[in-house]
Amino acid sequence: ATPYETVLVERTGRTALLTLNRPGALNALNLRVMEEVVAATEALDRDPEIGCIVITGSAKAFAAGADIKEMQPQGYMDMYLSDWFGAWDRLGQVRTPTVAAVSGYALGGGCELAMLCDILLAADTAVFGQPEIKLGVIPGIGGSQRLTRAVGKAKAMDLCLTGRTMDATEAERAGLVSRVVPADRLLVEALAVAETVAGMSKPVAMMAKEAVDRAFETTLAEGVRFERRLFHAVFATADQKEGMSAFAEKRPPTFTHR
Ligand code: CAA
Repeated sequence: ATPYETVLVERTGRTALLTLNRPGALNALNLRVMEEVVAATEALDRDPEIGCIVITGSAKAFAAGADIKEMQPQGYMDMYLSDWFGAWDRLGQVRTPTVAAVSGYALGGGCELAMLCDILLAADTAVFGQPEIKLGVIPGIGGSQRLTRAVGKAKAMDLCLTGRTMDATEAERAGLVSRVVPADRLLVEALAVAETVAGMSKPVAMMAKEAVDRAFETTLAEGVRFERRLFHAVFATADQKEGMSAFAEKRPPTFTHR
């Protein structure tokens, strides 16, 4: 039984599926959803038996944004003192690889949540956008930064200033999503990707994620140095010995995640 009201958590082997479950509001991300998604993901992150976490929504909406009705009456001091949206940053600190499986609307905070994940898969029905400007606000969960890093200034400015949306094809062409799949295949494909990732050595997958993430934080020379240190470090794992022995012996590896 899941202790959460707005997210469902299911485990299959080494993968976990976290489904946003606020159907009456197209999974709008109110503070409760934020606390529960972050708490559920952090709990899975601490579990050595979990190698990959999939986050998904409903067919109609991954998430239609932060909860507009909850934000409407807030003032600056309310937002500042509560550090509104601050907890979402903890999702970016999760070390286990994450996959966003996006069907339908991924708008505002929904698009930002998807961008907080490591691999972004889209159904052909997916719709991405940062329409905050139409409400008289701007993105607040990193959209202006992560969208720009993902798709470049041209499209990020276009989306953030006009509030227009982008379909799955455009999102893939722009580099926001790694794959587009038919809507009825989304979960199957996302879980297959997660199972593949979860089948790798967990510490090595964590290091691969850390290395790619570092590309967004540092210079090329520092990033390459960081990668080289981690590359050397993987030779301290049992899984490196196993992976390379298995190749030489023409058999599949059995990783022990150590
Ligand atoms: N916040 C609160 N409630 C929302 C919501 C949101 N972001 N999005 C949808 N809902 C609610 C609607 O109010 C409606 O509730 P009621 O039935 O009680 O009226 C219910 O979900 C169903 O929505 P619609 O009737 O609007 O569904 P639709 O199919 O006609 O339209 C939609 C779908 C185009 C996505 C439309 O719901 C919409 O435009 N939603 C808002 C999108 C948006 O602006 N997102 C950005 C939010 S701001 C933000 O995210 C800030 C940030 O950076 C974090």
